[in-house]
Amino acid sequence: MTGFRRAALVTILTLALAGPAPAQMLAQILAEPPAQPSAQPSPESPPIQADDARMLPVLAAHGMVAAQEARAAEVGVEILRRGGNAVDAAVAVGFALAVTLPRAGNLGGGGFMLVHLAERNATVALDFRETAPGAATADMFLGPDGEPDRAASVRSGKAVGVPGSVRGMAEAHRLYGSGRLSLAELIAPAERMARAGIPVEAGLADSLPRAAGLLGRWPSSRTIFFRGDRTLARGETLVQTDLADTLRAIAEGGPDAFYTGAIAERIAGAVQGAGGLLTVADLAAYRPEIREPVRGRYRGAEIVSMPPPSSGGIHLIEILNVLEGFDLARMGAGSAEALHILAEAMKPAYADRATWLGDPSRSRVPLEGLIAKPYAERLRAQIDPNRARPAAEVKAGDPLPFESDQTTHYSVVDAAGNAVATTTTLNFSYGIGLVAEGTGVILNNEMDDFAAKIGAQNAYGLVGGKANLVAPGARPLSSMTPTLVFRDGRLLLVTGSPGGSRIISTVLQVIVNVLDFHLNLAEAVAAPRIHHQWRPDVLFTEEGISPDTLALLRARGHTVRVGASSGSANSVMRVDGLLAGAADPRQRGTLAVGD
Ligand code: DON
Repeated sequence: MTGFRRAALVTILTLALAGPAPAQMLAQILAEPPAQPSAQPSPESPPIQADDARMLPVLAAHGMVAAQEARAAEVGVEILRRGGNAVDAAVAVGFALAVTLPRAGNLGGGGFMLVHLAERNATVALDFRETAPGAATADMFLGPDGEPDRAASVRSGKAVGVPGSVRGMAEAHRLYGSGRLSLAELIAPAERMARAGIPVEAGLADSLPRAAGLLGRWPSSRTIFFRGDRTLARGETLVQTDLADTLRAIAEGGPDAFYTGAIAERIAGAVQGAGGLLTVADLAAYRPEIREPVRGRYRGAEIVSMPPPSSGGIHLIEILNVLEGFDLARMGAGSAEALHILAEAMKPAYADRATWLGDPSRSRVPLEGLIAKPYAERLRAQIDPNRARPAAEVKAGDPLPFESDQTTHYSVVDAAGNAVATTTTLNFSYGIGLVAEGTGVILNNEMDDFAAKIGAQNAYGLVGGKANLVAPGARPLSSMTPTLVFRDGRLLLVTGSPGGSRIISTVLQVIVNVLDFHLNLAEAVAAPRIHHQWRPDVLFTEEGISPDTLALLRARGHTVRVGASSGSANSVMRVDGLLAGAADPRQRGTLAVGD
């Protein structure tokens, strides 16, 4: 049923309840909608302008940037206008976010970038995930009682992995940039904002007070983010002079200026001063990896996403494979029936994650088996449409017989059809909260993404297995899921999200909302989300799902917890030759802006 017909039916029912409707009015409602091209969404493509849409995406003809922070998004569009390609713009956005969204944008963290190069019709996955320092050991996060020591893996210097963002961004520019703009030109806007200062507003004003406890422990962080005994308040100015100098050094000397010499010494010194293991040798040895993306098909569209050491792409495709056997469109967006199927499809994927996933250079990840359609058929057969399976009944599968890896996401598309999906993180908002003295660089706590021991949960409640134990040089398992969707060989959607364990389910629901429910991008991004990660055995939902629906889910046996919002899926989509952008409304200050 199209949105119009659904709306018409609701109106008819409402009128019927209100009393006899004038025949003329009924006839009008039952009539086909006026013959505007936009009024009747084709099942394949949501309309640019729908009369029944509650919200609409931003449109542009040439390029689009959707990001969690508006100034950084504007920097990206400015780079496109100056002739940069999507990769140039994404690199400039990445550096800008390190200044304007210090909770997640970063130089001291890591991330993943999926790059589609239209001319070569090729998509590559750039992995600039942090690595464990050379002195890291499998038991480094166990306390004297043999149990995980969360404070060590989240709040101490031991939590800091070797940062990958600077080499990652520089590599993206070197390999895939247009060649028309230098790295220094892409860094310049970030440096300017760090030096001149930015007003504390929107997401920055929201996040700083919440991070006061983390940041306030370190004098080097207090100097920047505090005024007296409180964090900077809305309307004050955040000046980051040391960060500006670090950005200038990278602009002049390339990434080596960050990974060797005075800046590297300061970073290693700060981490060791906080009880950590990071050395200048670890920094000098850091290298990003170029990887083959993981690919799947869903309802005729091609899904291209991040491979290990992210778990995101594999489990996104695993869940979509399971869902393909259900008629979600008939069930309807937001229906208890559809939400139940989504939750049941998520559970086995997260159980598999806990067993199979880790750094592919350390352990064999059965990638092909996990994303195989026959494996999904087996998982699908175990789903009961009327009953929630308790987590204890759901076990990691055995995909081997089929065989032959605080955060922010931004999406960029340029006029030539190049596309970039980047998710980057310090893990927690502001990482461990420590700014390496004299550098302006906030340090990550990515080491908590390793399993402290087999079966232990990390800060997101995710269970980790042998494949994800700490090992020197290893990359901790991630959930970050930058994703591209293609239809008929043409780019359709660029998406991704922060949200820890909820990243995979967030990206999944954006895709299902577009491909199954034909929502426009703004609605697909804004629609209430659910999440089930197998353990804890809880169906998490956002606000906005009706009590009746929640009651139907509880009746099926789900333990439903309504609470925190999930993710920030800043996305771009191609619609009828135009670009639609949607910034996620769940954070203040997000922006989709086009050219
Ligand atoms: O790589 C991961 O999966 C996590 N470190 C991501 C953390 C995150 O998304 C926090 N943001 N909300």
